[in-house]
Amino acid sequence: MNSLTITRPDDWHLHLRDGDMLAVVVPHTARQFARAIVMPNLDPPVTTTDQALAYRRRILDVVPEELNFDPLMTLYLTDETSSDEIGIDACVHAVKWYPAGATTNSSRGVSDISRCYKVLEKMQQHDVPLLVHGEVTDADVDVFDREQVFIDRYLAPVTERFPGLRVVLEHVTTRQGVEFVKESSARIAATITAHHLLLNRNALFTGGLRPHHYCLPVLKREQHRQALVEAATSGNSKFFLGTDSAPHTKIAKESGCGCAGMYTALAAIELYAEVFEEAGALDRLEAFASFHGADFYGLPRNSDTITLLRQAWRVPDVLSFDHAELVPFRAGEMMQWKHVG
Ligand code: NCD
Ligand code: ZN
Repeated sequence: MNSLTITRPDDWHLHLRDGDMLAVVVPHTARQFARAIVMPNLDPPVTTTDQALAYRRRILDVVPEELNFDPLMTLYLTDETSSDEIGIDACVHAVKWYPAGATTNSSRGVSDISRCYKVLEKMQQHDVPLLVHGEVTDADVDVFDREQVFIDRYLAPVTERFPGLRVVLEHVTTRQGVEFVKESSARIAATITAHHLLLNRNALFTGGLRPHHYCLPVLKREQHRQALVEAATSGNSKFFLGTDSAPHTKIAKESGCGCAGMYTALAAIELYAEVFEEAGALDRLEAFASFHGADFYGLPRNSDTITLLRQAWRVPDVLSFDHAELVPFRAGEMMQWKHVG
């Protein structure tokens, strides 16, 4: 197969940042995806509906005129979030639970989820999904075990306490995470990134330390990568596309204490196409990328299409803007598929 046309996909987990960076990254996503669930971990975070609506306008301001792109906004859950924030405006599609200290700009995240039970109650009532960064932050838990420990200690109890709440285990990275989602009710789903499907943790150290392969949750062993590929390509509607594309400047990544995040938005759908082709499941890419997420969020599937050609192209070494640079995933390397419109 040399050409692949699928219903236009959506990205159900995306970081767009703000300011100069926003204008650089939004067009990359808007070219491929109709909609994206936009993460609220700005500095300061997006904690209120008013802030989410203002951020949405800033995003729309930098969408190129010829493109249609609908940013689906989220709120950042804190210990102080009021249940009055829930259900105010239909532009807010979900609430994100970052355990305090788990990842980029999570210092104002949740210190104890029991403080948020009133908010979760209201979300359950209004059918607003809870999006979860599923990692514990305890220093005594090995960084490679943090997802599984989080599921056992926090996620399983929360889903039991709020059986009507829809929950997305964002960027699932382990076999145990996949199993948990599969065995849970239809209200529990997961997004899967392209980089966790493509790379295992060896990629952090190939020939030296690779800061551009550092993300959170951190890459895992090969057996976990294989479990993710199986889940993504199985046709199970609980699993859908969420790039977790997370741009940081080159300087912030190539540093003595580098930031977590990979910038995959430049060629996101092509990266997923590689994975599905390798698994002999290209015919299942469309459902994973374009149907399952929309169905979970109760939104209509997109009606237009995009086309990918089997055409080699080289990813740029760096994207320059103003006084900063951004290194895209696969910088300087070849891609096999090309999105052509
Ligand atoms: C994300 C970021 O930079 O905002 N980083 C990442 O490695 N994925 C935050 C997150 O999703 O954990
Ligand atoms: Zn993320």
